[in-house]
Amino acid sequence: MPDLHFSPLAEPLRPLLNKFYRLHNSPMRAASEGQLWVAKREGIVAGLCLTPVAQGHWLTGLFVDPACRGQRIGTQLVEHAVAPINGPVWLFCHPDLQTFYEGVGFSIDPLLPQSLTDRLARYARTKPLIAMGIEPLARD
Ligand SMILES: CC(C)(COP(=O)(O)OP(=O)(O)OC[C@H]1O[C@@H](n2cnc3c(N)ncnc32)[C@H](O)[C@@H]1OP(=O)(O)O)[C@@H](O)C(=O)NCCC(=O)NCCS
Repeated sequence: MPDLHFSPLAEPLRPLLNKFYRLHNSPMRAASEGQLWVAKREGIVAGLCLTPVAQGHWLTGLFVDPACRGQRIGTQLVEHAVAPINGPVWLFCHPDLQTFYEGVGFSIDPLLPQSLTDRLARYARTKPLIAMGIEPLARD
């Protein structure tokens, strides 16, 4: 099987992540700002977005090709993307994914910046969501 590579997606290639989401019928969309990360085998097999928010970053859009799940690609992609970040990283997820993110070092009930607290309150009206976060120290 070809090697896996984890890398930030270069600016001109940003549309490739949306193409990947569409290919798998995911409603996810690449964030318009910030850094996109992908895992590639021959093509993209996973992606995520990291958007600067307040003094940290907001992780969205983590998606692994359904044919490639259960191979720790999601775990490794999050680890690669979060490692160079100097500051907290937050995300919202379905409660079922708490264990998955804890496996990468995230904890529940982080101290969120106000903009994400407001956003979580809005989103949580229509779907079950929890907030999780990781501090730089937890990644040492
Ligand atoms: C969630 C997702 C990113 C996981 O990617 P993955 O590469 O299959 O996950 P990994 O192989 O790294 O899994 C690591 C661990 O998390 C667990 N896990 C993975 N997906 C899980 C899920 N949906 N629910 C509960 N646990 C899960 C695995 O069982 C594994 O546990 P183990 O270490 O005890 O074997 C992938 O299933 C996906 O793209 N789902 C659809 C999109 C989505 O829900 N994204 C998250 C948005 S917040």
